[in-house]
Amino acid sequence: MGERPYVIDEMLSAKTIAARVEALAAEITRHFADTDKLVVVGLLRGSFVFIADLVRELRLPVEVDFIETSSYGSGMESSREVRILKDLRGKIEGRDVLVVEDIVDTGHTLAHVLHLLAAKKPRRLESCALLDKPSRREVEVRASWVGFEIPDRFVVGYGIDFAQRNRNLPYIGSVRFEE
Ligand code: PRP
Ligand code: MN
Ligand code: MG
Repeated sequence: MGERPYVIDEMLSAKTIAARVEALAAEITRHFADTDKLVVVGLLRGSFVFIADLVRELRLPVEVDFIETSSYGSGMESSREVRILKDLRGKIEGRDVLVVEDIVDTGHTLAHVLHLLAAKKPRRLESCALLDKPSRREVEVRASWVGFEIPDRFVVGYGIDFAQRNRNLPYIGSVRFEE
């Protein structure tokens, strides 16, 4: 895995992503307009680019925190077993919380994290995923805001990796293996 030669076809340009992030941030800003301080929780590592762009478009007082989860290891298939490698630093009880994810695929990661965070009794708990692959869903979960619904292709870039590579691409592309 990762050794086989592949090419990356651009699916969503940096410009397209930026415009969508701006629109999502405007909706989220409206939704949380009355908050004292929104806790924005990014799921490492994949969400690091998206959360950085999203929080800079929010017109709200924001606290940024992270959880590190892992389900894929180095392969292309979800292990369906979500591990928490790093937990929140701050308290979220009674607070407004927005979970930020790069992609919802089988749904195991987001469902698991929302379940864990709900148990900490936040005032409001919402989620935003840049990408959603509804055709791959194994558990019923949907982000409150979705940037783009995409077909079942293996995607990379804008934080998303293939075997820990390509996270730094400024656009989102799909991986195509060469024969
Ligand atoms: C990827 C992606 C999502 C999750 C989605 O993370 O960033 O967090 O998988 O898959 P699911 O809906 O099937 O659970 P990964 O576990 O690869 O860790 P990473 O973010 O560090 O790349
Ligand atoms: Mn991830
Ligand atoms: Mg990954």
